[in-house]
Amino acid sequence: MTAIAIRVENLSKRYRIGALQQRHDTLRDALVSTFQRLTFQRSTFNAPTSQRSDELWALRDVSFEVKRGEVVGIIGRNGAGKSTLLKILSRITEPTSGRAEIHGRVGSLLEVGTGFHPELTGRENIYLNGAILGMRRTEIERKFDEIVAFAEIERFLDTPVKRYSSGMYVRLAFAVAAHLEPEILLVDEVLAVGDAQFQKKCLGKMGDVAKEGRTVLFASHNMVAVQTLCQRVFWLDLGQMKAQGEVSPTVTAYLRSGLAENEATERIWPQIESAPGNDTVRLRRIAVMPVGGRPGDVITMQTPVHIEVEYWNLSPTVHLHTELYFYNDQGILAFKASTGYAPDPALHVQPPAGLFRSTCYVPDNLLNSGAYRVDVHFVRDNAMATYRHSEPINFEVVDDHERKFAWYGKEPGVLNPRLAWQTEYLDNGLAGNVCRTPVEVTDNR
Ligand SMILES: Nc1ncnc2c1ncn2[C@@H]1O[C@H](COP(=O)(O)OP(=O)(O)OP(=O)(O)O)[C@@H](O)[C@H]1O
Ligand SMILES: [Mg+2]
Repeated sequence: MTAIAIRVENLSKRYRIGALQQRHDTLRDALVSTFQRLTFQRSTFNAPTSQRSDELWALRDVSFEVKRGEVVGIIGRNGAGKSTLLKILSRITEPTSGRAEIHGRVGSLLEVGTGFHPELTGRENIYLNGAILGMRRTEIERKFDEIVAFAEIERFLDTPVKRYSSGMYVRLAFAVAAHLEPEILLVDEVLAVGDAQFQKKCLGKMGDVAKEGRTVLFASHNMVAVQTLCQRVFWLDLGQMKAQGEVSPTVTAYLRSGLAENEATERIWPQIESAPGNDTVRLRRIAVMPVGGRPGDVITMQTPVHIEVEYWNLSPTVHLHTELYFYNDQGILAFKASTGYAPDPALHVQPPAGLFRSTCYVPDNLLNSGAYRVDVHFVRDNAMATYRHSEPINFEVVDDHERKFAWYGKEPGVLNPRLAWQTEYLDNGLAGNVCRTPVEVTDNR
C-alpha cells in the first residue's frame, strides 16, 4: 500500500458570486451520486481560465501531499478556502480544475448540516454512513454501541435527526466519523460547536485516531488544538497555499500576519510641536512589544511584555508619573499600572525638563488571551491627572499553549495568572474507609 494518503495537484475551485450553486441537500445525496468515486478515482479538469468579476476562486492552484498516519492542521482566515478544500476531498463538491487523489476510506465531519439525512433516524444514519464507507452490517453493528455511547444520544436513537439540537447532531456526526474506522478523517471546526466536555472528547478521540496510524486533516481556528494535535500545518490564504510546514513556526507566522492589520502596537509623534499633550507633557511614542522583540511581534500568554512610553516633560518643577490602564475586549479594566507604585530613583530628585522613557514590564503568565487596549495617563505630583491620551495602543494576546488534558477554549477570567500552588497530603482522613494514594505535591511555578 502506498505511503501517500492524499495527493493534491494544482487544485482550484471557482464559485460564481450570486449564481445559484448546484447544491446537494445532504451529504448522503452527494455521496450516493458519487458513490463509485469514494474508494478512489482520479479526476482531471480543465485549467483555470481568466478571472471574471463575478467569479471567486475559493481555491487556486493548491498542491500538497499527506502521508498515511499524518495529522495535518489547515489554518487560515475566514474565507481562506479551508472548508472548500475539505469538501472537495470528501467529494461533496468538485474542483474546477486540478486533481485530488485519495488513497483510503474517507470519513468526514464538515459543517453542521452535512453528514446526515434529516428524515432518517440516528440509528438509520449510522448504518447509512457505515454503508457509504463500505463497511459490512456486522462491522457496523460491532461499532454501534460505542458510537451511541460516545454521542450520548441513546434516548433519541429512533428520532429523525432533523429534530436533534445542533449539539446532538454534531455529537452523533463526530461519533460516526471517528468510530466507523475511516482511514482518512476530515474534520472541519467541530470545536466551534459543543460544550467543553465534548470538545475534550473529540480531541481525545482524534488523538486516538491519529495514534492508530490513520490520517487526519483538521481545519480549525483554534490554535491551541492545532498545536496540540497536528504534526504539520497548511496555511491557506485567499485560496492559495501560503505556507506548509512545521506547526509552531507556521502558526506563529500566521498569527503575526493577522496582527499587522488590526492593531496599533506603536504610535510615534516625532515633532514635539504637533505631539499630543499639553503645556506639561507631550507624548513622543507609545509601543507594546514582547520583551526582546519589536512592536507587532506575536505576544502569547507565556510572553513577558514591555510597554514603552516616551514623553517630553515640559515643566522642570513637576513630578510626572505615567499610568497605564489595561482594558480587555469587553471594556473591563483588567488593571492599572503606574510608575507611582514603583518610583524610579532618578525621579525622586527634581526631574529636569526633557525627554523620558518609562517602560512597564508585564510578566508572562498574567494576561489572558484576547485583545487588550492600553490607555496612557499622566499624573503630576502624584495626585493630579494632567493628561489622558485618547488614542490607545492595542494588542492581542494569543493562546497557543499546548495542553494535555484540559479545556481547549479560551480560559475564563479577565486575567489568567499562573499562581503558585502547593498541595499537601495531611492524613488519610477517611477513618477506616478506603485509603487512597497520597496526592502528589505540585507547584506550578
Ligand atoms: N457555495 C458557494 N458559493 C459561492 N461562494 C462560496 C461558496 N462556498 C464558499 N464560497 C466562498 O469561497 C471562499 C472560501 O470559503 P470557505 O468556506 O472554503 O472558507 P473557510 O476557510 O472555510 O472559511 P471559515 O474560516 O470562515 O470557515 C469564500 O470567499 C466563500 O465566500
Ligand atoms: Mg470553513
